[in-house]
Order: sequence, then C-alpha cells, then structure tokens
Amino acid sequence: MRVPVEKLEPGMKVGYPVLGEDGSVLLNQGVILNPTYIRRLRELGFKSIFVETDLFQDVKIDEPIKLDTRQRVQKIFHDTVKRLQRGDMTSYREVSRVLENILEEILAHEKSIVYLVQMRSCSDSIFTHSVNVAVLSLLLGKYLDLSLLQLRKLGLGALLHDLGKIRFPEGFLKEKESLDEEEKRIIRMHPIWSKEIIQSHTDYDFLVSLIALQHHERLDGSGYPYGLLEPDIHFLARICACSDVYDALTVDRPYRKRFSYAEALEYLMGNVGKLFDLQVVTTMVRHIAPYPVGEVVRLTTGEVGVVVRLNEGLPIRPVVRVIQDREGNTLERPKDIDLMRELTVAILCLAEENVEDFYSPHGVPTLGESEFID
Ligand SMILES: [Fe+2]
Repeated sequence: MRVPVEKLEPGMKVGYPVLGEDGSVLLNQGVILNPTYIRRLRELGFKSIFVETDLFQDVKIDEPIKLDTRQRVQKIFHDTVKRLQRGDMTSYREVSRVLENILEEILAHEKSIVYLVQMRSCSDSIFTHSVNVAVLSLLLGKYLDLSLLQLRKLGLGALLHDLGKIRFPEGFLKEKESLDEEEKRIIRMHPIWSKEIIQSHTDYDFLVSLIALQHHERLDGSGYPYGLLEPDIHFLARICACSDVYDALTVDRPYRKRFSYAEALEYLMGNVGKLFDLQVVTTMVRHIAPYPVGEVVRLTTGEVGVVVRLNEGLPIRPVVRVIQDREGNTLERPKDIDLMRELTVAILCLAEENVEDFYSPHGVPTLGESEFID
C-alpha cells in the first residue's frame, strides 16, 4: 500500500525497496521503519513509499522489468551523467547495453496492462525521471509495434532527453514556485543542449538526438525550442513527449500536488490532437494502469480500499479490497470488489488521506541501525 511520507509511522514495514538516485537500495523490503529512517526519507525528498500490512499479504506486484535491471540502468546512467558533468568524454555504449536488457524484459512481458511501482520508489531526480521516461517510452513503443531498431533508438533518446539540464546553473529552479523570463529562456534551451551533448560523441545516432531535441515540441506549435508543427515532429519524439509529461505530472512539485495516474491520463487525453499524438495517448490509456496495485482509492459508494489486482482488458476497473465503509468505519473483514463485475461501482479518486486507518503496526521499531547509504 502506498503511504505518503508524512503519514509514515515507526513500526511500519517497508513493502517495496526504496532506491536512491543512483539506483542503490536505501531501505530494503521488510525493514521496520524507525524515526531516523522516516526523517531521512523526508530529508531526501521522498513523497510516498510502499508499506506492507497484514491485509495485503497475498498481493503480488508484477512489473514488466525486474528491480535489479532498473537499478543497473539507473546506476550506469547516473555514472555517465556524473562523468559528463566533470567534462569527461563518455560513450553511450554501456547505457545502450543495459537498455537492451530492459527492452528484452519488456518484450518478454505478456500482460497487456502494466504499471510501474518502481517509478515512484526512487528519489525524485533527473536520473529517476530519465529512467522512468525511457521505460514508459519503451512500453508504449512495444504496444505501438515499433521495430526493434526503432525501439533501441527510442529507449536511448528517451533516457538522454533531459541531458541538457546538466548545463543549468547550480541550484537552478530548486523549490521554485514561479519563473522569470530569464529562467524560462534557460529552460527552453535544454532540448538544444541535450541534442548538442548527444551529438558531441562519435558514436551518436541522429534519431536519438532528434528525440531529445523535440521532446518539448507540441503538435499545435505551442512547444519549444522551435514551436514546430505536427508534421515536423518525429513520431518517436511524440512518444517521448507523452512519457515525459506523464512522469512529470505524477510527482509533487513545490507549486502543486502530484496528479494521480488517472488524472495524468485525463490531462493527456484532454489535449490529444492539440498537444499530444492521438495514437500514443490511446495506447497509453489502453495499456498503462490508471490505478496501479497498491493505490488507496475511494469508490463511488463512499467506501475506501486498495487496488489489489488488475483486470486484463479493462484497466480502469481493477479489483479493490475495501477496508472502510461509507461512514468511515474500518471493516473487521475486508472484502474484495471486482469492478469488472460490479458495474454500478467505480473508482472516484485517490484517498491517500485515509491510509492510517488501515494500518496495524508490525512490532517495535528497531532504532539505531541505519540502512541509508549517504
Ligand atoms: Fe525536458
């Protein structure tokens, strides 16, 4: 069950590994939270983590890529960017190789509806975001039946799309709520810088750099850096654009709370044909779960529960384990409602504020030991 960091309490048990920006495990699954861990999570900027409770022992998280593959790509990408920041020449071969593993796993995954708990189990950084965008883009590319060659270029372009941000001045935009003209100008430069950095390497691929250059272009010409119109924006860049927006909307920002996955999809759908490509967004709606396993949701009946299983073919109607009745009383015996069968009931919204009502703590916190890698 996903729990906002401000609602964490000592004694809660970590339900899914928490990763740092270089992919290392900060808190492993099964660790009992103590006040030090909770404080560090807050300091490191985590917004929510997964906790395990007795009520969901039978729930399995089934993701298209393995956690250690994700960790490897994040580590290699992190090290590559750090080398670039130091001004060292670097090659993308190592990154391409590990992306190939991700691609293999994605292609081998047979489910038609996917979700990525990993996406929100890492610290919020350019490294996490870039890997999320690469994984999402590859998933979309698979469902869009792209060729293997196109998928390889898409994966690398999506991973490197924001590389230009390493030229931002130190501390740029940290905790900013509004932007002045100069800041906007610098932001609008980053796709060009990404392209330049990618092209400064002998083994660069033109299409990979084009994806990075065009990832902020929008079909109606309102994007940047060039305000290109629909026919001039490459299809692979349109995929990257949708993944980028989807990931960016679903994290908290100083000036707004995160969108739920369902709300992010609504935003993309509402702007189809204007900003985003119809085919890409339709594919996203069909295959990326708006309510992933572990999300706390409120139903139209007023009851609150947690998504425990997805229904193939109908991503918007998963199985929900109801824990709280419409009056707010915690049920002694939770009941599963399969929204594929109960057609008069639907998910209304996320209900994170209710999470503490479901929780029965696990034993005493173990103070003193620290799993954080500083
Ligand atoms: Fe960007």
